[in-house]
Amino acid sequence: MPTIAETDRLILRFFESDDVDVIYEIMSNRQVMKFSISGPLNRKQANTFLDSILDTYTSKGFSLWAVHSKEDERVIGFCGHFFHRLEGKDEIELVYRLLPDYWGQGLASEAARAATDYAFNQLGLDRLISFIADNNEASKRVAESSGFKLERETHFYDKPVLVYSLEKKA
Ligand SMILES: CC(C)(COP(=O)(O)OP(=O)(O)OC[C@H]1O[C@@H](n2cnc3c(N)ncnc32)[C@H](O)[C@@H]1OP(=O)(O)O)[C@@H](O)C(=O)NCCC(=O)NCCS
Repeated sequence: MPTIAETDRLILRFFESDDVDVIYEIMSNRQVMKFSISGPLNRKQANTFLDSILDTYTSKGFSLWAVHSKEDERVIGFCGHFFHRLEGKDEIELVYRLLPDYWGQGLASEAARAATDYAFNQLGLDRLISFIADNNEASKRVAESSGFKLERETHFYDKPVLVYSLEKKA
């Protein structure tokens, strides 16, 4: 499985078609999906979600990466990048979701920093954004730990969200 990045506790790697069970475990979890636009996904929707990740690797060269715990030797979430057309501009979003058993240990921040570094230094991107619900304090802290700053408020699928952003340093 091709590796994207390795940190002290994590390996970020490409998802594969046999990761469908863990995608379902993540995307069907009510706590994980509390702030999401869609809400928890059923198994069919999770299959479609994984298919879209795999298709986007082919069309864009990036998408969400599986976050693998070295200690537990399993995938514990994902972190990576989604393409959006926002207010007439192409934007790349940094996204992260971990299973609740792994929250509060600095793991999402560790994954987000690795994915941000990969985006700027391997993918050649020069700007990332993150959509964050105003009451999602954990997500704000993860974005801030990678250097993101609050830029503005917008609407995404008709819901108000904060846009955090980070430009690559020259
Ligand atoms: C957001 C999420 C990825 C954070 O994961 P995590 O591994 O617990 O994050 P970290 O341990 O790296 O914590 C980051 C910071 O948030 C803080 N934090 C964690 N949970 C918090 C909470 N519920 N309220 C306030 N702060 C919180 C931590 O103390 C830490 O602060 P610090 O940087 O000052 O030390 C996880 O909560 C999650 O998957 N949530 C559901 C999905 C989601 O909302 N994703 C973001 C939008 S795509």
